[in-house]
Amino acid sequence: MASLQSSCLVLGTTAPKPRIPPSSAKPSHHLLPNARRSHHRFHVSCSGGPAEEGKVDRRNMLLGLGGMYGAANLVSDTKVARAAPLLPPEFKSCGVAYVGDDPLDVNCCPPTSDIIKDYKLPPVHRLRVRRAAHRLNQANIAKYKRAVKMMRDLDVSDPTDPRGFTQQANIHCAYCNGAHDQVGHEGLDIQVHFSWLFFPFHRWYLYFYERIMADLLKDPTFALPFWNWDHPKGMQLPGIFDEEDSPLYDPNRNQDRRPPAVLNLALNSTITDPAQIISNNLSLMYNEMIGTPASATDFMGKAYRDGDAPPTYPDGGTSEKGSHTGIHAWFGDPRNEYNEDIGNFYSAGRDAAFYAHHANVDRMWTIWNKISADYPKVITDPDYLEASFMFYDEKKQLVRVKVADSFNHKNLGYDYESVDIPWVRSKPPQKAAAANIQVLSKGVKTAEKLFPLKLKKTTRVLVPKSTVGKANEVLVLENIVTDNRKLIKFDVFVNDEDDKPEEVDRAEYAGGFTQLPHRVKAKNSKSDLRLNLKQLYENINIADDDSVVVTIVPLINGEAVTIGGIKIVEAPSA
Ligand code: C2O
Repeated sequence: MASLQSSCLVLGTTAPKPRIPPSSAKPSHHLLPNARRSHHRFHVSCSGGPAEEGKVDRRNMLLGLGGMYGAANLVSDTKVARAAPLLPPEFKSCGVAYVGDDPLDVNCCPPTSDIIKDYKLPPVHRLRVRRAAHRLNQANIAKYKRAVKMMRDLDVSDPTDPRGFTQQANIHCAYCNGAHDQVGHEGLDIQVHFSWLFFPFHRWYLYFYERIMADLLKDPTFALPFWNWDHPKGMQLPGIFDEEDSPLYDPNRNQDRRPPAVLNLALNSTITDPAQIISNNLSLMYNEMIGTPASATDFMGKAYRDGDAPPTYPDGGTSEKGSHTGIHAWFGDPRNEYNEDIGNFYSAGRDAAFYAHHANVDRMWTIWNKISADYPKVITDPDYLEASFMFYDEKKQLVRVKVADSFNHKNLGYDYESVDIPWVRSKPPQKAAAANIQVLSKGVKTAEKLFPLKLKKTTRVLVPKSTVGKANEVLVLENIVTDNRKLIKFDVFVNDEDDKPEEVDRAEYAGGFTQLPHRVKAKNSKSDLRLNLKQLYENINIADDDSVVVTIVPLINGEAVTIGGIKIVEAPSA
């Protein structure tokens, strides 16, 4: 049931984005930053929205600004004020993409089309098998290179062909960096990260990408490889992406992290011992897949409906926030202003390795579905099931797809090669004895004394619990304000006597916050990071204490983070 919604927030003044002509693959250099400042107006964020697009302009409706839709609509038709699924973007009104508040010098709008079809999944005769990139045989590698080469050739022969390499990369840019407004909500951009849309969107994106490749190759068995970064053998950039003369190569990557450099998901460059890095990676995987989530939305990402303000980093699911964002951050090129290519969503699709990365992200969704848990895995909210996106298919037809149709990957005609999953055995070891809170909290200040906290250095804070001992609680870091144009990482530990922040494979590790330079509608995003403590309390064997010591460790650009407050609350019932 769609829920009723009654309160809306005035978010401030931002100019609507200027419209730019439908895509050419070439960057357009004439976008004037000032143009978008010409009209300032109020935005309203509601968790609900009109059932039909464009029916009511809620900004006018709620602020009484008059116009075509006055306050009378609100009174006479209460039914419009309810939640609804997010609608696909209107390609014709695609605009400028941003990082932070900076308009980007790139036009990532897709070609427009007057014919839109509701996509019907074709019958599956034989599953394509996505294989681990580091295990591909020569024939498969050659085929993969040929497909990417053909897509790159389309960039040159017809830059408006939606199957081209750059056009495909731009899909990600437009859906992630504010080029598309929500239909009927000018100024509220569509964001396919940080919410329950994350897995379905990227599954559909890869689905069409793979079908385009198969069609160009005239080989219906073709499948994308997955970058098996959750296994020690895959914990480096797969070699096929590192050959400089290959169509799979991208020069815009962190040069220090080319193979055989070991992937460091914790993003803590003070660790150099590969065994510790791998142990950290496996433990992080265990936590985000099994240990931490206590509900389907903990794993998938929070609800995001028509009319909602775009979600931000802390709203994403455990897998998205963890390994997914970690890979983007680790391999993005620090020589570029916004960590392009894979280190920023607008440019990530320009790196062929991005699609192999996301195949593994998608694989994580299939694995999570199979792991037994003590909470329901299925989200039945119609605002979720009916949410939809638009893509071009392999025949260049613009199609609309629904979230609900993405749930069973085998219906989409593919499966994953099965490989060993070592992290299921990587639960952080339990501590034999509880920490002595009297000793640990000596000289540690309370939140009232320390917050709001600018995260310039490692900070310890004493936080009261809602109940003593092993309760089902959540640690909330409130009102996190960051500079959106910066890469950011910090880690959080509870009752950490050992004080070894580079070892996140320990019981005391509560979780982290990673942000890529990105776009949110407001200049500074403000949001809460929620870390489930149930598993942690078990593992640290917490005594019947009424407070804990929380350690917050800045790793990357801590000075660009302010945390408004910190508290521990009872976990909501799943
Ligand atoms: Cu849409 Cu990993 O990004």
